[in-house]
Amino acid sequence: MKGSARAIVLAAGMGTRMKSSRPKVLHEICGRPMLWYTLRALAAAGVRETVVVTNALVDPRVAPLLAEFGARSVIQEPQLGTGHAVQTGLRALPAESGTIVVAYGDMPLVTTHIFSDVLEMVGTSGIGLALATARMPLPSNFGRVIRRGEAVEKIVEERDCSGEERAVNEMNAGIYAYDEPALRAVIDELRNDNAQGELYLTDTVELLIRAGRRVVPVECADYRLVLGVNDRIELANARAILNRRLCDEHMRAGVTIVDPATTYLEPDVAIGPDSIIYPNTSIGGATRIGSQAAVGPNVRISNAIIGDGVQITESVVLDTQIGPHVSIGPYAHLRQGNVLGSDVRIGNFVELKNSTLHAGAKANHLSYLGDSEIGERANIGAGTITANYDGVRKNRTEIGSGASIGSNSTLIAPLRIGDGALTGGGSVVNRDVADGERVAGNPARPLEKKAPL
Ligand code: UD1
Ligand code: CA
Repeated sequence: MKGSARAIVLAAGMGTRMKSSRPKVLHEICGRPMLWYTLRALAAAGVRETVVVTNALVDPRVAPLLAEFGARSVIQEPQLGTGHAVQTGLRALPAESGTIVVAYGDMPLVTTHIFSDVLEMVGTSGIGLALATARMPLPSNFGRVIRRGEAVEKIVEERDCSGEERAVNEMNAGIYAYDEPALRAVIDELRNDNAQGELYLTDTVELLIRAGRRVVPVECADYRLVLGVNDRIELANARAILNRRLCDEHMRAGVTIVDPATTYLEPDVAIGPDSIIYPNTSIGGATRIGSQAAVGPNVRISNAIIGDGVQITESVVLDTQIGPHVSIGPYAHLRQGNVLGSDVRIGNFVELKNSTLHAGAKANHLSYLGDSEIGERANIGAGTITANYDGVRKNRTEIGSGASIGSNSTLIAPLRIGDGALTGGGSVVNRDVADGERVAGNPARPLEKKAPL
């Protein structure tokens, strides 16, 4: 039954072909560990409980990921093959009469409907196993699906294939829906008499048939949905496919992406209609972009909330909130914790950190604004620096609305510059400036009115 299925996800293999100190299933694709995609698809298919089979190295590192999906793990030591991994997973699940889905943690391109399809099929009476298959161009290192009519007769691993079997182009995708009692009845009969000396999960096919159950294939329309990632070349190929899929979703929803091949997106990104993304742009994390925005070329954005009609070119924007119709760049660096009101303008070589700029404020050239609050329509002249760090503490700078900060001003925090105040070019301001006051010099002093002659 679809709603009540449980799942075992295999992720204990060492992934030796990755040549990595990082476990294979934790290598990232579009900002998420590979395993995340399998878990997401399973959750969306309505699987109610998932056990991930890990090893001692992987286990502590997958904990946050499992928490996100309410899944748990079981350690398989040593790793004696995919069949042994499922034996280990089954021991962590109290026996029931439902369906067990088995999937591998190294197939990030898998979609929810592949799981739904095998789940639906296994519900049919007499079927012990429904497994996903795909027609693939040869050569391929996938296990070959050997059929007898409409049913599967056996799966033969590439290394164990005869010449004739190797020419078969229907592959075992690695997605299975088992009738649980049928699986439990045969799983301990697996033997390791094969090229790798492992217990192959795929041998359950012949064991189930011998036990009088049917094994049926569920053919996927597109083999690219089930590509496994075993080395870094396959990792790059999978990333390109997944990224293209993300771009396509946004384009269908009304976003123009000038060059999907050089636009790098992550799954949680949201972009409003009629926005345009120019080439060589990465948008990641929980970024939300409004409509009619123009982003790129050469922009990197992470975890930003960006309003309608915003323009950003050649810049880096991290953990920042940006109001409507703001213009940023080229060559600006917005580090964490900034809030920009509507119509703010940030120009070239400006760095912002933990700063709030209210509506219409401008910092057009060569500035560092850190731990600051800039009032409405204030103008920050070229080369202005907030000296926010006194060697011990980060101090705040407040600049009032309509203030005019002269070029090359150094603002030594903590400091408050009043509404409508002015600093002259080259000022070093180390004391508060009152509303409407005009100061200049080093250290900055009030500008005296010339005495009448
Ligand atoms: C497997 C299938 C093959 C299928 C292919 C699809 C078997 C024997 N072969 O081959 O028919 O076409 O996937 O991608 O199942 N793992 C464990 N414990 C182990 C061994 C492996 O958890 O002891 C995990 C791995 O981490 C991996 C998954 O099982 O996520 C598959 O193992 P892998 O070695 O990649 O199998 P393939 O050779 O790709
Ligand atoms: Ca694999």
